[in-house]
Amino acid sequence: MEQTKSDQAYAPGMLLGTFITFEGCEGAGKTTQATLLRDYLLEKGKEVLLVREPGGTPVGELIRDILLNSEDVDIAPITEALLFAADRAQLVRDIVRPALQKGVTVIGDRYVDSSLAYQGVGRGCGLEPVKNLNDWATGSLEPHLTVFLDMSVKDSLARAKPGGLDRIEKEDLEFHENVRYAYSMLQRIFSYRYVVVDANGSPEAVHARVVSEVEKIIM
Ligand code: TYD
Repeated sequence: MEQTKSDQAYAPGMLLGTFITFEGCEGAGKTTQATLLRDYLLEKGKEVLLVREPGGTPVGELIRDILLNSEDVDIAPITEALLFAADRAQLVRDIVRPALQKGVTVIGDRYVDSSLAYQGVGRGCGLEPVKNLNDWATGSLEPHLTVFLDMSVKDSLARAKPGGLDRIEKEDLEFHENVRYAYSMLQRIFSYRYVVVDANGSPEAVHARVVSEVEKIIM
């Protein structure tokens, strides 16, 4: 059967690069830490790419707008899971997989585990269907290392962008407690790739903890 461009999410091609993802609750500092790690690895002479979810491709940015800014639109949990997966399918096919094939280190500011935690558990879609959906969307591309930035929900929500909270950040405390509980399950299920880093303290202090974990696998 002839392979088309749309099949490339599944193309097995050798992945030479390392794929590192950051996960955690709102305000735990994922974006700050992902950026600090990128800069650190660039300084070490590595080729590095930082990608963010949702978004990161032209269609992904459109999907992001639906997901985060549709205040008065009712979005069913399954629709939400499908939209996050659609965004991810495009990002993996167009950006993440080609970079890994070239040997680039890819840093993901959130990835599949966010969907497992937020849609699978937070929204009640179930871990298994969301995992299956994302395996299809990504061709089962899994990170080599997932850094979980650990902080209490109360502290992390207090730190989340004080200005504008998006549609999902605005959910109540119970929702976010469920998300955090889901992450503790994911840490056990995927213990072979998870490291838990204390996210309390200055960005520099947390960065030093992140680096010591990352150096174990890529230096
Ligand atoms: P966030 O990391 O806060 O993005 P940014 O800092 O760029 O605004 O993510 C946006 C929201 O999307 C956040 O509340 C978590 C949620 N989310 C999911 O519910 N499922 C997912 O699969 C992803 C990637 C994010």
